Amino acid sequence: MSGHGPLGERALPSMQLPLRLHELLPLRTPRLRLVELDLSHLSPLAAMLADPVVMRYFPRVMTKAESEQWLRRTIDRYRRHGTGLLAVLQDRDGTTAFLGDCGLQVRTFAGRAHLELGYHFTRAAWGRGYATEAAQACVTLALRHLAVSEVIALIRPENVPSIGVARRIGMSRAGCVLHSGLVHDVWRLTREACEALALQ
Ligand SMILES: CC(C)(COP(=O)(O)OP(=O)(O)OC[C@H]1O[C@@H](n2cnc3c(N)ncnc32)[C@H](O)[C@@H]1OP(=O)(O)O)[C@@H](O)C(=O)NCCC(=O)NCCS
Repeated sequence: MSGHGPLGERALPSMQLPLRLHELLPLRTPRLRLVELDLSHLSPLAAMLADPVVMRYFPRVMTKAESEQWLRRTIDRYRRHGTGLLAVLQDRDGTTAFLGDCGLQVRTFAGRAHLELGYHFTRAAWGRGYATEAAQACVTLALRHLAVSEVIALIRPENVPSIGVARRIGMSRAGCVLHSGLVHDVWRLTREACEALALQ
C-alpha cells in the first residue's frame, strides 16, 4: 500500500527528485484517462479502500478518515517526488466514472530508492483489462521519459490477480522483501525489457 516504505523515505541516492512525471499528465489510453488524485475523488476512493474484497491482500480495510489521510499523503508526494498514484477515470456517455488508482511512487527499501508501480481497482472494474491498460501506460511513460532504469512492484505471493497484471505488462520476479510485516515478491521491468517488448 502507499504507506511508508519498509525503510522509510530516507536516502534517495539513485533518483533525482522530483521526477516531473506530472508534467506529462493527463495520461490517456484507448479507454482510460489518468489524472492526479484530488479531494474530489475521496468518496469513491474511500468506498474502494473500505471494500474487504479489494483489500483482502492488505493488512485491513481503511476507514474514510484513513482514506482521506492516504489521499492527502499521495497529493503531497506529487509535490515532493513529482510522481504518485493517479486516479483512473473513464469518460463515457457524458459521465466520468472513477475506476481506481494506478501509478508510480517513490519507495525506499534495501537502501535505495525505487519507482514502484501500484494499483487498486473497484470490484466493478475488474475483469476488463483496465488495470493492465493503466499500468502499461504508466510504466511506458516513466521508462521512456524519466531518468530511471527500472520500475518495480511489490506483490504478495498469493495475490494472483495482481501477479497477472505484472506478468501481462512484462514484469518478472526479482526477489522478495518484508513490507508492512508481510512477505512481498519484487517484480521488475527494466528499460531494456520495456523497449524489447515495444519492438515485438
Ligand atoms: C489487482 C487488480 C487491479 C487486477 O484486476 P484484474 O481485473 O484482474 O486485471 P485487469 O484489469 O488487467 O483485467 C484482466 C482480466 O480481464 C480480462 N479482460 C477482459 N477484457 C479484456 C480486455 N479488453 N483487455 C484485456 N483483458 C481483458 C482478462 O482476460 C483478465 O481476466 P482473467 O484474470 O480472468 O484472465 C484487482 O484484482 C484489484 O484491484 N485488487 C485489489 C487491490 C490489489 O490487490 N492491488 C494490487 C496490490 S500489489
